[in-house]
Amino acid sequence: MYFRNLSLNFLDMLTDIMKKHNYSAGPCILPQEVFEQSAAAILDFNNSGLSILEISHRSKDFVGVMEEARALALELLGLTGKGYQALFLHGGASMEFLMVPYNLMKENGKAAYLDTGTWASGAIKEAKSFGETVVVASSKNENYNHIPREYTVPADADYFHCTSNNTIFGTQMKEFPNVDMPVVCDMSSDIFSRVLDFSKFDLIYAGAQKNMGPAGAALVVVKEEILGKTGRNIPSMLDYQKHIAAESMYNTPPVFPIYASLLTLRWLKAQGGIAAIEKINNAKAKLLYDEIDRNAYFRGSANAADRSNMNATFLLENEEHAPIFDQLWKQAGISGLAGHRSVGGYRASMYNALPLESVEVLVEVMKDFESKISGMNF
Ligand SMILES: Cc1ncc(COP(=O)(O)O)c(C=O)c1O
Repeated sequence: MYFRNLSLNFLDMLTDIMKKHNYSAGPCILPQEVFEQSAAAILDFNNSGLSILEISHRSKDFVGVMEEARALALELLGLTGKGYQALFLHGGASMEFLMVPYNLMKENGKAAYLDTGTWASGAIKEAKSFGETVVVASSKNENYNHIPREYTVPADADYFHCTSNNTIFGTQMKEFPNVDMPVVCDMSSDIFSRVLDFSKFDLIYAGAQKNMGPAGAALVVVKEEILGKTGRNIPSMLDYQKHIAAESMYNTPPVFPIYASLLTLRWLKAQGGIAAIEKINNAKAKLLYDEIDRNAYFRGSANAADRSNMNATFLLENEEHAPIFDQLWKQAGISGLAGHRSVGGYRASMYNALPLESVEVLVEVMKDFESKISGMNF
């Protein structure tokens, strides 16, 4: 054993941080206590004299992290004891675009996809390499500004895939179709943010880097009974059953993203779980959308009925005013508000950890902008 002293500069840095109002779409804001606990664990994990970054993933301490994270994910989703397994895998949500068809689309089978945005179409592209991929509906022609409602899912599809929240376009599915086949949902940008009957889904996946933790892991929650039916020879690293048998440690897992995800899930539980955070998320979204609708200098870019509570997309009525607005929000300590290049304008990502106060600051900036511009007009 030996002592390792922390440098004074390092401690000074930790005590004096000017936090921004972080509207980034992902990676994004996480709870402050998650940052602090993660930082502490990098220096000394569980008083072990070792950093979380240097312990074996097979050590008792890390196995405990993995077990708790898997169990807590199921608990928060209300899926404990219902035949589901939670996995933390490498490769982000994009890897699931191909793992899903590999594991669920039969040889010579068929899958049905709803195309609601860039990520949905990314999933469709991968599925096409595995077999017939039916796009039941798409809002692409309207630049994905709404969620299609009228469509039929072919009864002989091996599964139906949808994206619950379209991070880039700011739309969110409020209801899901009742179909007689496994339902797969990419919940990357709204998992753990609102109450749903999660047992209606047979496979849920999400990249960690929005409501769960830092980038580098994806959560997969899968009903075990839907697996092992394709007749395909699946490479081990892409086989959900192999990952389940290895308790999500088929190879070295991304230990730090999983640990930080566990801290975020613990934080969420301490807040009162999904039902409690949903109330705050609704309040934040209402505050911002009310201002977008009230303020004559802005307009929302997604259809009102399909607006996302996680990513609010909006435009200036007059693009020439952009330098003034941009200067105001930057001065107010706001970060990450620029819209995705395929929509333009602005995108306010209001994930679970973004405090209501940050939305209040943005709304104040929008009001300030209104008075400045209307003053200029007279
Ligand atoms: C809805 C959705 N699906 C998939 C992805 C891709 O995630 P990853 O970068 O983890 O592959 C994103 C990324 O933002 C997303 O928002």
